[in-house]
Amino acid sequence: MHRRRFLQAAAAGSISALAPVRDASAQMAGMPGSGKGGGMMGQWAYAKATWQTGLPLRRIPALANGSPLPGTFEGTLVASPYSASLIPDHATDLWGYNDSYPGPLIEVYEGQHVDIEFTNRLGIDSTIHWHGLAVPADQDGSPMDPVRPGATRHYNFEVPPGSAGTYWYHPHAHLTNTLQVGRGLAAPLIVRGADDALRMLPELTLLVTSLAVDGDGRVFAGAVARPGMPVMMMGGVGELLVNGQKHPVHATTPGATERWRVINATPGHYLRLQLDGHRFAVVGTDGGLLSEPLPGLTEWVLAPAQRVEIVVTVATQPSARFWLRDLGQGGWMGTGAGAALMAIETGAGPAQPRVDVPAYLRPIADIGPASARQQIVLSMSGMGASGRFLINGRSFDMNRVDLETVVGRVELWDLINTTYMDHPIHVHGTQFQVVGRTVRGLAAPIPYVAWLDTVNVPAGETVTINIRQPLPGKRMFHCHILPHEDAGMMAVLNAFAV
Ligand code: C2O
Ligand code: CU
Ligand code: CU
Repeated sequence: MHRRRFLQAAAAGSISALAPVRDASAQMAGMPGSGKGGGMMGQWAYAKATWQTGLPLRRIPALANGSPLPGTFEGTLVASPYSASLIPDHATDLWGYNDSYPGPLIEVYEGQHVDIEFTNRLGIDSTIHWHGLAVPADQDGSPMDPVRPGATRHYNFEVPPGSAGTYWYHPHAHLTNTLQVGRGLAAPLIVRGADDALRMLPELTLLVTSLAVDGDGRVFAGAVARPGMPVMMMGGVGELLVNGQKHPVHATTPGATERWRVINATPGHYLRLQLDGHRFAVVGTDGGLLSEPLPGLTEWVLAPAQRVEIVVTVATQPSARFWLRDLGQGGWMGTGAGAALMAIETGAGPAQPRVDVPAYLRPIADIGPASARQQIVLSMSGMGASGRFLINGRSFDMNRVDLETVVGRVELWDLINTTYMDHPIHVHGTQFQVVGRTVRGLAAPIPYVAWLDTVNVPAGETVTINIRQPLPGKRMFHCHILPHEDAGMMAVLNAFAV
């Protein structure tokens, strides 16, 4: 079996079939700018802007609901270029939803009917994709339904029951996602349910993006072009921002217990989150709350496009200051030593009484036994600017169906990564569960059950998921490192009703 896969990958021209998976340095030798001493980033260097830091953390304003009916949410979003003031003394030409960076928070309820009027003033095709929400295929904002420059369309869908959780929305146009998201088009979407075991906790929504701005306030073209080396390999060269700010300060009270929703909206940066001197509990993932909290954690890796909900109890000392950090990825592909994301200050006043996280959050149903199994092989061919990222040996073609399924049928998907880098694989139209992981032929344990729409498939490993499509139609599945997606690592799944 393993050997056959190896041969299939070799036939597809996979790089890693020709070299040991871990021997990345040899493969890197063929890449532009990878020569000794010069450093891979050399030709992509730009004079970084001096950001203003230490401002109070900005809360992302919510999109107004224009409907008087409680069961309906009506809003208007316009995507257009605009001039933002991000750094002192210079304007930055961004692309935004309703002239804001990040775009407005959409807050809706399970079962609510959503009607968003979307106008595209970008000058190129765009869409809005409701990342992680199971909406009908023709409302999913896929590249098959482009909204042309100057055009307006409505997105209509019902917020699925049981979907309470943290999501985001972003463009999904053919070949230009790196450009569009990298220029600022990304925003949070929160679904609330009638029951919420953590409703007593104060909340913070932290949308992490990366943006490369030079000293004159211009967005560095190398960061949004396709395909540029650092963007291609590492998902970006920009600053990590929280709610559009560099190193903002979250002012809280000593001993406060809070629920943070963290969204990785970067074009392709893995966040390894850590909180100085604090442990935290993970209580939710892409598709909402876990059944039981995972307490006592010191770090959590959030792959591109993933979300995590954590519960944090901050230090009880007054005037304490500590950081939420990204520890970075390390290794040859890493983005360095990591970066501070946000400061937390406890301020003055008496310590808050301790709040315990409930031991049980909500039921998470088993998806059920699978009746079919599919293999998804990730590979690469070529190098540098001509490199392609492939699924089952093929580059994306929206006029081709790559995989078929039956609506409601539970399947096992083996996501097989034959390359030397990690790929966060995202499937539209549903939430799935990880049921297996194989590291060099050995099964690794899956410590908890969670709803995900994006899963990291580490270099050289296989991840097995249990998945079903609740609705009919054609769906994208792809790597969420956007330059990989733009360079072909996307495929079409057709779910047909019988
Ligand atoms: Cu975040 Cu295909 O999407
Ligand atoms: Cu999606
Ligand atoms: Cu990838």
